[in-house]
Formats: sequence, C-alpha cells, structure tokens
Amino acid sequence: MKLTSDGAARTEEIGYELGKRLKAGDTVALFGDLGSGKTTLTRGIARAFGIARRDVTSASFTIIAEYPGDPPFFHIDLYRIENEEDLEGAGVWDCLGRNSVAVVEWAEKLGCGIKNCIRVEMTDAGDDRREISIEGLDEEDRNNL
Ligand SMILES: Nc1ncnc2c1ncn2[C@@H]1O[C@H](COP(=O)(O)OP(=O)(O)O)[C@@H](O)[C@H]1O
Ligand SMILES: [Mg+2]
Repeated sequence: MKLTSDGAARTEEIGYELGKRLKAGDTVALFGDLGSGKTTLTRGIARAFGIARRDVTSASFTIIAEYPGDPPFFHIDLYRIENEEDLEGAGVWDCLGRNSVAVVEWAEKLGCGIKNCIRVEMTDAGDDRREISIEGLDEEDRNNL
C-alpha cells in the first residue's frame, strides 16, 4: 500500500492508524533517509498505545526506548549501530517479537534478522511531501487503512 503525506501532522495520523492495527508481537521495520519522517510516524504509532508524542524523541544516542504497558512498546533507533556486535550489545533482539510491539528505525541494520515484520519505506518527495509504503499488514487491516 502506498500513501502520500502532505505534512508531519498527516504522517503522525497515518502512524496512528497503523498503530491501531498492530498487535502484541508485531515489529514495524522503518526504512528511509534522515528526515524522511520515521520518528514522526513513530510518534503516531506510539499514540495508539497511549504514549504521549513528546515522549517519543529522535535522540540518536538512545538506541532503545522502552514504554512499559500492555503490550510493552519499544522504539528502537539503529542509526548508530555499525555491526552485528553492536546489535547484540544493545540487546535489540530481546525487544522484538514475543509479547511486545517494536518500531525500528534504520531497520536495514537488522540485516537478515528482519522477518515477519511490517515494512514501511519512507521517501522525501520534496518540501513537506513524503511517500509512505506499507507492506505486511493483514489483508483486512490494509483495506481499512
Ligand atoms: N509529510 C511529512 N512527514 C513527516 N515529516 C515531515 C513531513 N513534512 C515535513 N516533515 C519534517 O521532516 C522532519 C522529519 O524528521 P524525523 O521524523 O525525525 O525523520 P527521521 O526519523 O526519518 O530522521 C521533521 O522536521 C518534520 O517536521
Ligand atoms: Mg528518527
């Protein structure tokens, strides 16, 4: 599914709609350059889990932000991860799957570890426009987004 956002607020709204369709165990893998809107989308997703938007930051030194809840929510930013060792060291694998929901920025850094996830690719289409492609949602969910 491909969507076009015309501003940060719309991207957050798309994130919220996506977030409402997630269930415990889901991982959302975000791909896209710096400034493409990954953190903005994550704010919307997090809102669907009752997390305040101001609590979701793009501080790149925070690799894993955990928000306790039912399900627990993880916002993972792999920008500074350089190799498999860094990934292991940060404890990223422990946050994915099971009974939590995880949103991962720079998901390409998970390497071949990304399976069974919802893939979101974000592209800057100039000014405030962003192309957002979402794959891996259940058929029924997708039709309603
Ligand atoms: N349609 C849009 N969607 C998301 N962000 C947008 C949009 N238009 C402009 N922006 C701006 O682009 C920047 C996106 O930043 P951010 O979400 O932190 O990106 P990333 O996490 O991918 O680096 C923000 O400054 C935001 O206000
Ligand atoms: Mg970011």
